[in-house]
Amino acid sequence: MRAARFYSFGAPEVLTVDEAPEPHAVEGSVRVKVQATSVNPIDLYVRMGALQQVYPVDLPAIPGRDAVGIVDEVGAGVTGVAVGDRVFGLGGISDTTAEYAVLTAWSAAPEDWSTAQAAAAGLATATAAAVIEALGDLSGKTLLIEGASGAVGTAAASFALAAGATVIGTGSERNQAHLEAMGVIPTTYGPGLADRVAALAPQGVDAAFHSARADSLPALVKIVGDANNVVTVVDKQTAAELGARGVDARNDSALLDLGARLGREGRYTPRVDREVPLADIAEAHRLAGSGAGKVVVTVA
Ligand SMILES: NC(=O)c1ccc[n+]([C@@H]2O[C@H](COP(=O)([O-])OP(=O)(O)OC[C@H]3O[C@@H](n4cnc5c(N)ncnc54)[C@H](OP(=O)(O)O)[C@@H]3O)[C@@H](O)[C@H]2O)c1
Repeated sequence: MRAARFYSFGAPEVLTVDEAPEPHAVEGSVRVKVQATSVNPIDLYVRMGALQQVYPVDLPAIPGRDAVGIVDEVGAGVTGVAVGDRVFGLGGISDTTAEYAVLTAWSAAPEDWSTAQAAAAGLATATAAAVIEALGDLSGKTLLIEGASGAVGTAAASFALAAGATVIGTGSERNQAHLEAMGVIPTTYGPGLADRVAALAPQGVDAAFHSARADSLPALVKIVGDANNVVTVVDKQTAAELGARGVDARNDSALLDLGARLGREGRYTPRVDREVPLADIAEAHRLAGSGAGKVVVTVA
């Protein structure tokens, strides 16, 4: 099958497209004929070899953590999904940017989502849903999201709004309109955040979600006033020092189901900024690493 691969760790240029052996569904998994996959920040770290201590991959490796596609093999013990279904979901730490990928967590892709939107939904949904689960009942509460304009932040903001929260979200100037259109009270990140948030929420903020590669976790804890109500998916070391909570995505179909349900209700549209064909996989990683927003790689 055609697949994006890297034979050594390094810059985007290590990526190439060539022929790789097809994977097959095993117990508890499904195989999809991939339509598209997305580039997540973790893919860049895996490609650079920066996660070999924690999540080792063998070379040559196929990048990609999530995908959308049509189920063409169903592993033993799997129920509720059939050959021909269009699903989005998660592979392993790598392996989805190819003609075929094995998913260990999946959900039916909402019909209203484009291929690109469904491709962009996998890891962002699983991460945001795990965060919302950790934060508990948000009804009537005010949640501050640092990085609300990103893929995970957009998902978390949508889920929190659907749960009845008021959401204040940070993003760059160019993303203020995106935040506002989602129903988020927008503000920018960086110096002065506490003052801006105090002006927007004089009643105070109940909880915060840190969803950006930024050293703002201590500021979020200060704004909320209770570290236990602050969650990060980025800076677990500082979280441990402050008493805040670190959360990770899980390959759990139930987390994906939340995004799919809200997608069907028109309350969650996954963020997509760029679409790049598989042949240009190196360019896709370059764009993703340069702040170009959410990049989707079209495969079929
Ligand atoms: N632990 C886990 O399981 C897990 C899973 C998925 C992701 N993550 C991590 O979560 C983070 C977000 O992932 P993503 O896919 O949503 O990435 P993304 O789409 O690139 O979003 C990044 C967000 O950070 C914002 N940002 C950029 N520079 C900032 C700064 N200096 N201060 C504050 N915010 C800033 C961006 O805003 P603008 O674009 O508006 O500038 C955007 O909202 C990444 O660090 C990723 O590694 C962790």
